[in-house]
This record gives sequence, C-alpha cells and structure tokens, in this order.
Amino acid sequence: MITKNIIKSYKSWFDNYVNQFVLQYPDMSENIEIKANHSRKVRKEIVALAQSLNLNNEELLLAEIIGLFHDIGRFRQYAKYQTFSDSKSQNHAELGVEVLKENNILNDLSKKNQEIIYNSILNHSTAKIPPEKNERIVFFSKLIRDADKLDIWRLITEYYMVKEQKENKALELELPDNDEISDNVLESIINKQVVMKESMKTLNDFKLLQIGWIFDLNFNYSIKRLHEKKYLDKIFKTLPNDDRINKVRDIVDNYFQEHIKILTY
Ligand SMILES: [Fe+2]
Repeated sequence: MITKNIIKSYKSWFDNYVNQFVLQYPDMSENIEIKANHSRKVRKEIVALAQSLNLNNEELLLAEIIGLFHDIGRFRQYAKYQTFSDSKSQNHAELGVEVLKENNILNDLSKKNQEIIYNSILNHSTAKIPPEKNERIVFFSKLIRDADKLDIWRLITEYYMVKEQKENKALELELPDNDEISDNVLESIINKQVVMKESMKTLNDFKLLQIGWIFDLNFNYSIKRLHEKKYLDKIFKTLPNDDRINKVRDIVDNYFQEHIKILTY
C-alpha cells in the first residue's frame, strides 16, 4: 500500500537531492531550481488531473509519485552536460530511472507499482507512447504526459514574457532564434501530427512543436485547462505574424472548438 508518509519521505528526498546540486553547482542553480519547481508543479497538476477522473486513493498517490519524479534525471543531465536537450546529451527519462534505482527510492513499493512508475517516466517524453500491453502503464503514461505538457506550457509562456530582459538559452534548447520555420515542422502541425524533435532546427520550430502538443492531449481536463490558461495564444504572440502561422492558428482554434463544445463546464 502507498501511504501519505511515503509521499512525504519522497518529497523530502527530492528536496535534498535537488539541494545537493544547488550546493555543488551554484552557477547552475537557477536552471536547477526551474526544473525542481516544474517537478513540484507537475506533481500538483497530475493530482488535479487524476482527481478529475475519480481515481481511487492508491492510484492518486501513484500518479503523485510519477509527477514528482518524472524529471528526476534533469539534474544529473544538466550538471553533466549543461543542456536540457536529450539529443545533445542523454535521454533524461532513462537517466531518471537510473537515479531512482541507484538510490533505492522505490524499494518499499510493490513490484507492480515500481514497474508502472519506471515505465511512465520512460514514456513521458517520447513522441508517442510505445506499444505496451500493460493497460495501467499506458494509463499512467497518459496522465504524466498531459500534466507535464500543461506545466511546460506554463513555464515557457512565463519565460517568453521575460525573455528580452532575461534570456535563458537552456530553455530554448540552444536553438537559433531567427525567422526560420522548417517545412516539415509546419507540415506535421498542419496535419495535426506530433512534431518530431529531430526535425526542429530553430526556436520557432520548437514553439510549433509545443503548440502541436494540443493534438496529443489525452483527457478533457487537460484541453479545458489549456483553453482556460490561454497558453497557446501566448506562444502564438511570440511567432512571426504571417500566413503560415495564421494557418496553424486556424487549425488550433478549430481543434479547440471541436473539443471544447463537448465538455461540460
Ligand atoms: Fe521530462
């Protein structure tokens, strides 16, 4: 059984773990804190999402653990490589599972729950959830993917507001900030397909990839929250005002209209 005390001990282990990095790498503390706060907010977001789905207590706690630990690999990734780009370093989800295993964090949980947590972490950042027979793994992977997207939208839209005063290249995956938009990125999003990370060449491509996450949301809660928070409008404001972007905006607006009208507020 997962207890509230287990969650409490995980939260304090997480805080201590992050603090070690802050102390050891004071020059990098800002981005370490950004990722730590993201993890804490995803923990809250996934609980709210899980509550909207009437899950039982054990499932709520399991989701909470996945939320807190989904990015635990980010700290080692950043300390070692000074980037959040997996392609320039290492897969941060795999790193995260390694960290949890090395520290024997999940030892008190059942093997089944450990398997769900490890696999949901591994699946949180892939373009798609890989084929999987265990339905519980698929379900919890869907939860973390939505909760993570919602908080990344929060984080980057807050960042774009202050970017001119306080540029942070790590949050832009060090991509060049010019007027270019790659054709294959545009094509994917116009076809309502997930944009592949490998096709991103510019910051505009990255922004479009993040806009395209709307097509990958799994739960009504998430689309409703995205709509309420107006995250995509805020990203669109930072993109070139031209025909290509207007076409994407129309597609996104239509997608919202189709999906919001069937939701009850
Ligand atoms: Fe992540």
